Amino acid sequence: MTNLTKYRKHRQLQRKSLGLLLVAITWSLAMGWLISFATNAQGATPTSEIGTVDVVPAQYQLGQELYLENCSSCHIALPPQVLPTQTWKNILQDSQHYGGQIQPLVDPPRLLVWRYLSTFSRPILEDEQIPYRVNSSRFFKALHPQVKLPRPVEINSCVSCHPSANEYNFRRLTPEWENSN
Ligand code: HEC
Ligand code: HEC
Repeated sequence: MTNLTKYRKHRQLQRKSLGLLLVAITWSLAMGWLISFATNAQGATPTSEIGTVDVVPAQYQLGQELYLENCSSCHIALPPQVLPTQTWKNILQDSQHYGGQIQPLVDPPRLLVWRYLSTFSRPILEDEQIPYRVNSSRFFKALHPQVKLPRPVEINSCVSCHPSANEYNFRRLTPEWENSN
């Protein structure tokens, strides 16, 4: 081999390895992006998990947010399904609240919260008494078939079986209940 061909071979090799290096860099960048994307998606799982009885379509999500904002500062927010529509209506209109006082919501938030609560709860029959406690709500009972509930069941008892009740998740159950189903 002449010196010239030696030199050319060397240059070729250099170019080849530079090309390989570029491929490697591009690859790791792409993988990094993919991995961060995957971890992000994983991080988002708890919030995208369905924690309530029904899936909430986009047009009710603001109403749900406003409900949580206004009604979960003193106690956990109850899912609308556990009480009849009439109960929610009366609670939203009243500043007298279970022996205390609350600031009633004003429109437009009140209307959005009302749309959310009324859509995801059911009306009771006309001659039925309106329950103001989950303990006397048949809708609440219907969601707990065969569950031995504390008597009376109170807004503070939910978390004993629903460990994520504070995050408005009533699907997740404590292990003993998870296994019994
Ligand atoms: C003694 C344990 C216990 C207590 C206390 C309890 N729950 Fe439950 N809850 C359960 C179990 C178990 C289920 C699942 C029942 C089934 O699927 O048959 C359930 C189901 C539910 C569901 C239906 C979830 C779904 O979408 O499948 C809602 C909503 C709910 N509970 C709300 C509440 C609220 C609100 C409270 C407090 C006022 C409460 N629960 C108190 C055990 C309990
Ligand atoms: C200033 C504090 C406060 C705010 C804000 C508040 N509540 Fe209450 N709520 C209470 C108290 C106190 C009780 C009675 C708790 C008890 O006796 O177990 C209660 C009880 C309840 C109960 C009865 C639960 C049961 O079955 O025993 C419901 C339903 C309820 N609140 C709904 C709401 C809604 C809807 C909103 C938002 C419009 C709201 N709360 C905002 C303080 C508040």
